[in-house]
Amino acid sequence: MKHSEMNLHVRGASLFVDDLPTPAGCLHAVLFTSPVAHGTIRALDTTRAVAAPGVVAVYTHKDVPGLNQVGHIFKDQPLLAIDTVKYIGQPIALVVATTRRAAQAAVGLITADIDRLEAVFDPRAAAARGLIHGQRRVLTNGDPAAAFARCAKVVQGSLSSGPQEHFYFETQRALALPGEHDTMKVCASAQAPGAFHHHLAEVLGIPMHKVELDIRRLGGGFGGKESTAVWIVAPALAAFLLKRPVKLVLGRNEDIATTGKRHAYEYDYRLGLDAEGHILAYEVDIFQHAGACADISTAVLGRSFLHASGAYRIPNIRVSAVSCATNIPPNNAFRGFGVPQGTFAIEAALTAGAEALGLDPVDVKRRNLLRDGDTLPYGMKLERTNAIRCWETLDGQVDLGARREAVARYNATHADSKRGLAVVPVCFGISFAQTALNQASALVNIYVDGSVCVSTGAVEMGQGVNAKIQAVAARTLGISPDRVRLEATNTSRIPNASPTSASTGADLNGMATLFACQELRARLVAFAAKHLGCADPTQVDLRDDATFLAGKPTDLSWEKLVKAAQWARVDLGSHAFYATPDLHHDLATERGRPFAYYSYGASLTEVRLDCRRGTYTIESVEVVHDVGQSLSVPVDRGQVEGAVIQGMGWATMEQLRYAPDGRVLTLVNAYKVPDLKFCPARFDVTLLENSDNPYAVCNSKAVGEPPFVHGLGAYFALLQALRSVRKDKPLPSLPLTPEKAFMYLHG
Ligand code: MTE
Ligand code: MOS
Repeated sequence: MKHSEMNLHVRGASLFVDDLPTPAGCLHAVLFTSPVAHGTIRALDTTRAVAAPGVVAVYTHKDVPGLNQVGHIFKDQPLLAIDTVKYIGQPIALVVATTRRAAQAAVGLITADIDRLEAVFDPRAAAARGLIHGQRRVLTNGDPAAAFARCAKVVQGSLSSGPQEHFYFETQRALALPGEHDTMKVCASAQAPGAFHHHLAEVLGIPMHKVELDIRRLGGGFGGKESTAVWIVAPALAAFLLKRPVKLVLGRNEDIATTGKRHAYEYDYRLGLDAEGHILAYEVDIFQHAGACADISTAVLGRSFLHASGAYRIPNIRVSAVSCATNIPPNNAFRGFGVPQGTFAIEAALTAGAEALGLDPVDVKRRNLLRDGDTLPYGMKLERTNAIRCWETLDGQVDLGARREAVARYNATHADSKRGLAVVPVCFGISFAQTALNQASALVNIYVDGSVCVSTGAVEMGQGVNAKIQAVAARTLGISPDRVRLEATNTSRIPNASPTSASTGADLNGMATLFACQELRARLVAFAAKHLGCADPTQVDLRDDATFLAGKPTDLSWEKLVKAAQWARVDLGSHAFYATPDLHHDLATERGRPFAYYSYGASLTEVRLDCRRGTYTIESVEVVHDVGQSLSVPVDRGQVEGAVIQGMGWATMEQLRYAPDGRVLTLVNAYKVPDLKFCPARFDVTLLENSDNPYAVCNSKAVGEPPFVHGLGAYFALLQALRSVRKDKPLPSLPLTPEKAFMYLHG
């Protein structure tokens, strides 16, 4: 089963929001945003903008007919600022003009008189002053204090990991089309149909049944289009007030400068080991650099928090986590949803611990890997644990012992360049940690010609969820995938859909599709039995586009069957619902079963470092990843490859910089993302064999985010190369850029 959009993508024929034919009379909206990181708005002068050529309207918070609010978890984010601004890039006014250029020019004519207030850019300083979103979370298991006293070695330190720009090809955008009776249709690039549908109705002050949000596909989302509805709601506001179509498309630099990123984190850790390197105790305090509004930060933090133990068995643990309110654009979800950040700290601590004991981190990691019967810090007992199987499969393929020797030999004979390797195990919980979000519905219609249309709440953003759902429907109905088409995601067909995120898109929507197709299949089987004069429907089978009776083909093809069933007045449409069973988490005790199952993996990364320049090459990445019974091998391989490269980008080269006033400095010409040259010459992906999973559709496993964690291998392989030169410095922060490698060696 190939990616269903592949043929369109490679020919450049896929339609994105800005490719839809512009309707007659369409206007263009551009936001005027705060130039100040924190301040009180004294006065706003829009008169020159209103009078500018082509301008049709300029709106402020006073013009919002409904609720001036787009806060996602907390109601702390006005659509348009009222009297205070909390970050550079915060929307204050909306200019609508006949062309985008005219709107942009008019934005430059708006002046805001803003009294500056003190801005905070340091998460630790924010936490110290009590500037936090939500509550500090603390999770304790076992008795860390007593265990530390028994350790042969205790290592401690501070660490930090950096932010990451989503850099989706398609920037934030939407086209709003007003209709009769004050209705509104919005075609948008958005990951959260249900939530954004709700925001649209709230801001416009109309019931949700008057709003239709339509999402064909995204040119990438990566979490960045999951929570902040500003760029979807703003054009709808203008279209609603003007009764004309309005489009808003962020320019690349506008997107980089004003939208949220992956959260930077700071950590204080303490890790205690016995003499063989078994982890006895671990403590970590996590500070999340969240930005000015809570957005979805507390949810992301929750996942970092629940993944603080990585893929390891830690009998005594204390984790504390706090989401820090600072004066930068509100950060949001980014592939991994906090798991990479939570995992980085334990991986770094364990690497430092191994070094202190004079052991190889590879051995220490292997010794502590999770296995069946282990209990995670929040009390979930593991079963079907594939951490060790992934590791052993990797070892069998790459021969870790030989690869380690080769690196050691190289380093013993080379002074100007060093090699390094790292093995990274992955254990990634699947399900929304917010239990309520684990639901989905599907609508499957069979037409009289035998073609099938499937609607779900899943959003196709390049991850191939449509191909997977198509495969599920075709398999269940016993027909060829060509007969099945995935409709655009549309709130009029599928209400209240959870966002496509947390890698659950195919799990949840695929299961709902399976249920809907099973229902249709049962109806058709019952009809076929009657039609073929057979009293026992269990004798009927639908497969290969045909009807079988007692194992033998009949002349009732799929087309004939469907046509006859419709004529006999059999209902050929079905809607089904799925909610992941047995999920719960108690925030008061931090105990529960927040995830249905875990995604596992293991990878080997090798690098070569130029010790004079600090530059490096990622030589090889070899990955074994557990995707259960893959719904689509090419799609899953592509997801693993893409996630690993994106993860390596975060770990090594992607560095966002802010000016002292809080402005993003690294715009498109200064922000580096991985390119073809950066990719390792050897890049092998193996999908773990004979893995099944009763907790997701057709025994598959989620794949969208978990492999991102393997990207950490680039940091740790480089670290090994650096440590082979000198060990007298603290661990460098992530990303480990060539500049940082150079300073580590020579600074
Ligand atoms: N792959 C592509 N090509 N583009 C994307 O935007 N987003 C990732 C991942 N893979 C993304 C992607 C993220 S952040 C998530 S949560 C999952 O896809 C969401 O899709 P799924 O739940 O269907 O796996
Ligand atoms: Mo993905 S960060 O959960 O959209």
